[in-house]
Amino acid sequence: IRDDPLTVGDYVANYIAKRINDFAPTADKPFVLGLPTGSSPIPTYKALIQKVKEGSLSFKHVVTFNMDEYVGLPRDHSESYHTFMFREFFSHTDISPSHVNLLDGNAEDLVAECNTYEARIKEYGGIELFLGGIGEDGHIAFNEPGSSLASRTRIKTLAYDTILANARFFNNNVAAVPRMALTVGVATVLEAREVVVVVTGQRKSLALSKAIEDGVNHLWTLSALQLHPWALIVVDEDATAEL
Ligand code: GLP
Repeated sequence: IRDDPLTVGDYVANYIAKRINDFAPTADKPFVLGLPTGSSPIPTYKALIQKVKEGSLSFKHVVTFNMDEYVGLPRDHSESYHTFMFREFFSHTDISPSHVNLLDGNAEDLVAECNTYEARIKEYGGIELFLGGIGEDGHIAFNEPGSSLASRTRIKTLAYDTILANARFFNNNVAAVPRMALTVGVATVLEAREVVVVVTGQRKSLALSKAIEDGVNHLWTLSALQLHPWALIVVDEDATAEL
């Protein structure tokens, strides 16, 4: 528990930087990092960018896999997760664009796209550290309430609550929010060697309490982390309101 979103971001960035530096990645043995979108990871991204600028961290030998992407939103739309990731993070680091993996929500065959994504993760030997955020309904990636805890990368219809929550990124126009997304599954996240999740703000406090104080439950998919041997949830004071 840290004081506020900024100190959470600093803590998580220090944590990730240490993991990458201790791993000492090379071209032959890259560090495979899973990444989220949303406002929660932004302070972490800012702090990581600062480290790159100072020269204490490099993404040269880091390969990334993003958690999810909207279906049908043009790749260059300002709210596509592709655009978000380059705008908020990748463009400010020394990562090679060829090391960036994002689901293509406009692929002709979406099922094949999901299966190829899973296969690509395996080709790299799996994800070393998956960084995540959660929705107000406790979803991790876009694993909405009711998702199987054994789920893999697939197409998911967004919960109406998620569509309402994300309308703020589409000028509060609910109709403009895509109805579907491609997302890694709960099992895909659980398979990462380590999972770190950022939860900030009072809006997330019910989800946080359900996920850590109730049982493992497919209605609050973050709770699946209870099954993971190496999971860390970093929260601010506001998020602890229901604990
Ligand atoms: C979307 C993403 C999730 C993310 C969530 C939270 O639903 N698919 O991966 O955790 O937003 O967003 P925010 O951090 O802005 O509250």
